[in-house]
Amino acid sequence: MSDPALDLANLPLDYEGFRKLATDKRLGPHEKIGFPPAYREGFEAAILADILAKLPALTCEEGLRVVDIGPGCAGLPRLLIDLCRDRGHTILLIDSPEMLALLPDTPGVTIRCPGLYPKNVGEALSRLGGPADAILCYSVLHYIYLDSNLFDFVDATVAMLAPAGRALIGDIPNHSKRRRFFATKRGQAFHRAFTGSDQPYEVAYETPTPGKIDDAVLTGLVQRAQAAGCDAYLLPQGADLPMANRRDDLLLVRP
Ligand SMILES: C[S@@+](CC[C@H](N)C(=O)[O-])C[C@H]1O[C@@H](n2cnc3c(N)ncnc32)[C@H](O)[C@@H]1O
Repeated sequence: MSDPALDLANLPLDYEGFRKLATDKRLGPHEKIGFPPAYREGFEAAILADILAKLPALTCEEGLRVVDIGPGCAGLPRLLIDLCRDRGHTILLIDSPEMLALLPDTPGVTIRCPGLYPKNVGEALSRLGGPADAILCYSVLHYIYLDSNLFDFVDATVAMLAPAGRALIGDIPNHSKRRRFFATKRGQAFHRAFTGSDQPYEVAYETPTPGKIDDAVLTGLVQRAQAAGCDAYLLPQGADLPMANRRDDLLLVRP
């Protein structure tokens, strides 16, 4: 009997859900990280450029300690690993063992830390061998929200940062921003062009949104990081990124 098709749309995409995707041989690298290929194919160089503008030490300095929380297995972590090799950085990769097994192991450059972040932050710090100069957590926070308390995530991430270190928690779907955009004429036109449907896209207001990250969650995380001694900023993504109209980046900078 052939394998039943994997129902990507209804698979709960938490840490455990991604472990199943990682080992599913029917899926390509973008599908294994939960993206329809059209959302990422051809965009990875622009995404990396946007990341590097917010983490400039990665390209200006050498020999840094870098961390990627939830690298997945598609093109983005491969580009980052290449950059780390070229600049003499080491990069600690934190993801499930199944996902990490799909990434190249480059001796002297990559260090693996399998497990669920932020639970494994102690293990991460000891494998890193010192505090991190740059931390990236891209397109992951909304999944961490399903498994962990986001204040624990901010506390652990701030604790990993070296003085002058930066953490970019990028590509966060902001439900409030999404509602604001789709309530506009431009948003409705975008929706029509994307779906091919003429039906107006109804944007519900004044309803609870369990499990969604919104302005309130994000400003709470900003204040949590500030209270722990970091500068913290909510930033837009470059307009050439595929989900810039509904996602935000959170940048933490240790003074
Ligand atoms: C949407 S993918 C993003 C991959 C990559 N950062 C990118 O943007 O191409 C999310 C990744 O985060 C990982 N992940 C989810 N929750 C995690 C957690 N609590 N700790 C570590 N990794 C996690 C998943 O296994 C998956 O590889």
